Amino acid sequence: MAIFEYPEVFLILPCIIFLCFLRIRRWNKSHLPTDWPLVGMLPGILRNAHRIHDFATDMLGVTGGTFEVKGHWFGDMDMVVTCDPANIHYILSKNFANYPKGPEFRKIFDILGDGIFNADSELWEFHRKTTLSIMSNAKFHTFLERVVWHKVENGLIPVLDYFVERGIEVDLQDIFQRFSFDSICKLVLNYDPGSLSIDLPYIPCEKAFNDAVEALLHRHILPQSIWKLQKWLGIGKEKKLIKAWEAFDQFVYPCISQDKVIEEQDDNFDFITAFKKACKETNVVSCDSIEFLRDTFLNLMLAGRDTTSTSLTWLFWLISTNPSAETNILDEIEMKLHAKKDKKWRLFDIEESRKLVYLHGAICESLRLFPPVAFEHKAPVQADIIPSGHCIHQNKKAAALFLFNGKNGKDLGKRLFRIQAGKMDF
Ligand code: HEM
Repeated sequence: MAIFEYPEVFLILPCIIFLCFLRIRRWNKSHLPTDWPLVGMLPGILRNAHRIHDFATDMLGVTGGTFEVKGHWFGDMDMVVTCDPANIHYILSKNFANYPKGPEFRKIFDILGDGIFNADSELWEFHRKTTLSIMSNAKFHTFLERVVWHKVENGLIPVLDYFVERGIEVDLQDIFQRFSFDSICKLVLNYDPGSLSIDLPYIPCEKAFNDAVEALLHRHILPQSIWKLQKWLGIGKEKKLIKAWEAFDQFVYPCISQDKVIEEQDDNFDFITAFKKACKETNVVSCDSIEFLRDTFLNLMLAGRDTTSTSLTWLFWLISTNPSAETNILDEIEMKLHAKKDKKWRLFDIEESRKLVYLHGAICESLRLFPPVAFEHKAPVQADIIPSGHCIHQNKKAAALFLFNGKNGKDLGKRLFRIQAGKMDF
């Protein structure tokens, strides 16, 4: 046989097997995925792609809060992943200037254009200042309270009543996504698409958020060359992202292109008018660019929709699995707000809600266990050493910062909640 003509094969082969054995031993000891020659940890990551939040949380648990991911040799996937509070404080605050989002971030989140999530430096400062000043305006607060009350009274309660009275199972996650989608659209675009109604209408832009977020998560897991190829071929999750992009544009452009001027009266507020006014007072950006307005408002819609619905979904899931917490929440409402348990519904205003200390604690605990924004991604300008002692190389991809404590709302998938007589079970 030809192989016997090359005796060196018999030397190289045991070496490769020995190397693999060492790698597997290292993996067993560290519990991290094996760092294979050429492909790095990619096989282990891809094997766990369907449970990436749980996987990263497990790794953070066994490594004490920080670990290094080794990507393939020709790629850009090397990163440090951390949930260590000292590192997070250092990256997000103490040495903030060294950790912008970076050019890789913009490539992954291309759908967000020049909005706040994609911005660094001057553009980010402009967005931050403008958004903060609009959102801290008293008129915005009044408008916010009115929008949410209206949605609860005319959307959430009638829809839940409808399903309860008929004993029909409903996906509560879907209900909360519709609730937060309608609310955020009304808040930032002054337009209520009415997705939360008893016929649960299909609104392409509302569903597009799910497809977009899933595709963007996969772009973090796959090598750039692979997702770029998928995008070019228009296949897989990239195909869904292209369709989501179209749905966003078809929804947002008509809302912002109307040349309406809302008079500033006591009970009037319009985010688009307020933003355009703020733009005119600066020379950082031009608010004549319709694309820039589209990016700005799409970013705000994304910021408000998934975070709120994910928080509500996990809160209700946790309450439904902890009956004593449910009792405590109801007792507190009865005691502090003098609400009778047998009374059907009553809405509380912001001042009344401040008295509900236990409910506040339950919401905070739910956010701690299942943070809706599960990770952030930063790229260092200069090489650095973070407080845990890990080196952050400037030429490597990023210090990816994962803020995991638990899992993400997406893992709930299509779990069905049964709502019966105001109680929920699974
Ligand atoms: C439970 C609900 C929410 C959670 C848990 C949440 C969480 C977060 C987190 C972790 C960040 C990143 C902060 C950082 O990088 O320093 C963020 C940024 C942001 N959020 Fe929220 N958020 C929520 C609701 C909202 C809502 C309703 C809006 C309104 C539109 C909003 C608007 C924003 C904006 C504009 C940013 C970007 C800030 C910046 O880059 O400076 N968020 N949010």
